[in-house]
Order: sequence, then structure tokens, then C-alpha cells
Amino acid sequence: MEHTIQPPTFPNTNNNNNSTQEEEIIIIKSLEGTDPKDIVQCSRLAFSDYFVNFSQVADDYFISRWRMGMVDYKYSFAAYTKRDGVMVGFVVLGIDGVNAYNCITGVVPEYRGKRLVQCIYQHAIPILAKEKSIEQIQLEVISINEKAVKAYTSVGFHIHRHLQTVKGDIKPIVLEQLQQLQQQLTLDDGATQVIIDNEQIKRLVQVKYGADIDYSVVPDMLYAPQWEGKVGCLKTDSDQVEYRYLQDSKSFLLVKKQLGLISQYRFDSSSDAKILLQSLCIDYCNETNPTPFKCITIDSRDSSSTPTTNELFGLFNLQPSFTQFEMIINLKSYNQ
Ligand SMILES: CC(C)(COP(=O)(O)OP(=O)(O)OC[C@H]1O[C@@H](n2cnc3c(N)ncnc32)[C@H](O)[C@@H]1OP(=O)(O)O)[C@@H](O)C(=O)NCCC(=O)NCCS
Repeated sequence: MEHTIQPPTFPNTNNNNNSTQEEEIIIIKSLEGTDPKDIVQCSRLAFSDYFVNFSQVADDYFISRWRMGMVDYKYSFAAYTKRDGVMVGFVVLGIDGVNAYNCITGVVPEYRGKRLVQCIYQHAIPILAKEKSIEQIQLEVISINEKAVKAYTSVGFHIHRHLQTVKGDIKPIVLEQLQQLQQQLTLDDGATQVIIDNEQIKRLVQVKYGADIDYSVVPDMLYAPQWEGKVGCLKTDSDQVEYRYLQDSKSFLLVKKQLGLISQYRFDSSSDAKILLQSLCIDYCNETNPTPFKCITIDSRDSSSTPTTNELFGLFNLQPSFTQFEMIINLKSYNQ
């Protein structure tokens, strides 16, 4: 099924040439059968003026991230010019049960401001709701990306959570002092002071990998992870996943080391956080050419403890990077 639309024409701020104001017929249809490389090519144009520079990122990296995001090309959609069939906008969606996730959205600069994202969703939503019984679509958007927030709001998405990304070359806590103290580390947990060294940390932290991880026993998150950190998505690449936990505690880290991603965390005390992050550092810093680490799931409401989760990550050189909105749209009314 495809839709033919004539998007409203607005003066295009990227080009003063009057020809861009001509009315043009746009076709919206599923991406089923499309070579993912064609979507990557359109993404490169759409993201050519983006906050983050993707020009050095390989095609395969995009495609593998979409696979990990559980992308279903049949239920992803694009806009094409009728005149020459060129892809000018796209919405790529991952699907996990009744939930969908907007992995990537883009409109090439010459076609922006014509509500193409809204038009693609107007085509997609009834199909997602009726054929796939999708109840909710979620996405993340960098909070300063006003155009995108406006476009998603016009579709009916609303801001659900504020997320903080922390990023950096993870470093063991107070490395210099550690050396001076012959590898001793002081962890303070309220009134108690525990002196612990790296060997003890290694003994305290249990690590499971890939198929050995029993996700059913992974403790519930204090706050839900971001889509790519969900169990369904982690399982698409399960041999890359590492589960670090403490016996007799619900604290844990779920890490995708190759991507340098802390996909999920739970810290029930600052001592737990320090032990788990230090253990990650001990193993990680032994590796050659380690990837910078990032964690993208810190819910802004998770600042009740002292020190805050942000500060705990900060001790290990993971500093606040950008903030994101998690936006959702509920489709239940379309299912009836
Ligand atoms: C974000 C993006 C997908 C929006 O696409 P779109 O379908 O063109 O969006 P809309 O037509 O709904 O426009 C959204 C807002 O931006 C304005 N705008 C964006 N580009 C414009 C342009 N070239 N000319 C005029 N207005 C423009 C619109 O006026 C509108 O604001 P308004 O509601 O106050 O009028 C597109 O700008 C894009 O691809 N950006 C780069 C990649 C990106 O940021 N992707 C999203 C990552 S989460």
C-alpha cells in the first residue's frame, strides 16, 4: 500500500530558488525490500547538517545498529518524489511486541518544512496499529533539536522522560591516589568506611557473558532503560553483552563493551556503584584501544541519592554530554 500526497509548500529557508516552492507530488510507502544501504545514503544527506557528524561512520555501523534496534523494514516508511522516485525522507522503526521505536528519522534539507515526517506517520500509524497491534511508539531526540521536537509533537508524540547521557574515557577512581596507596581504594557508604583494593573488587563482582546471562533474573530497573538497552534489543547481539553484579545486592551493570555502552544500570548504594564501575575499569583499562564509554539512560528523576548517579559516573570520568527527551505516542485508540 502506498499513499500519494501533495505536502503543503512553505518557503524553504535552505534555498532561495523559487523552484523549490513548486508543488510536488510525494509518494509514501513501506521500506520493505529496500536495500538498507539506500536508507543509509538518504540518512547521510538528512544528517549532513546535524549536531553530530556521522560522515566517518561506516554504512555497516548504521545497519548493525538498526538490526540491534529490532528494525522491521516492512513497518518502516519513506517518502519519495513521484517525478524521479528519489527517497527524500524516512522513518525507520524497530518493533518489539506491541511497542515500536523510531530508530532514525530524516528529511533531506531541500524537502524540510513540508511536514513530511507528519505525512509519513499519518500513513504509518493506521498500518502499525491495525496490522501489528502496536500500542505505543517511542523515540529519543536531543533536547536542543527543536525542529525534530516540533515535527514529532505535530504527529502527536509528547515528552515522557528527560534523559542524560554521560560519556568519556572511563578511568579507575582516583588512579594517582590508588597508586600511592598501593592499590587501596576507600569507599565511603554513609558512616561506614570500607578499605578495599582492586583484588577484593575482582572477587566481589561476578561477571556473566552472553548466553550465560539469565535475563529473567536481571533485577527490575529503578527506571526503564532506553530502547536499545532493553532485553529484547540486547538479545539481538547477546554474545556482546556483559552482566556485572554483586552477590546479595540488586545493583548491576549491563554493558555492551564493544560499543562502549552501559545499556542498563542499577545502583542501590554509592558503594555498589563504585565497586561495579571500578571493576569495569580494572578489566577495561587492561584492553588495548578501548572505546570511550557512554551511558544514555540516566533518568533526570534519578538524582535523589547523594552523590547523584551523574556524580558517581563523574568519579570515573564519565561526564554529562547531551540531554535527550524520550517521546511517546499512544496508539491504543487506533486499535479499536
Ligand atoms: C527533524 C526533521 C526530520 C523534521 O522534518 P520535517 O518533516 O521537515 O519537519 P516539519 O516540516 O514538521 O518542520 C518542523 C519544524 O521545523 C521548521 N523547519 C524545518 N526545516 C525547515 C525548512 N527548511 N524550511 C522551513 N521550515 C523548516 C518547520 O517550520 C517546523 O516548525 P513550525 O512547526 O514552527 O513551523 C528534519 O528537519 C531533519 O531531517 N533534520 C535532520 C535530522 C534530524 O534531526 N533527525 C531527527 C533526529 S531525532
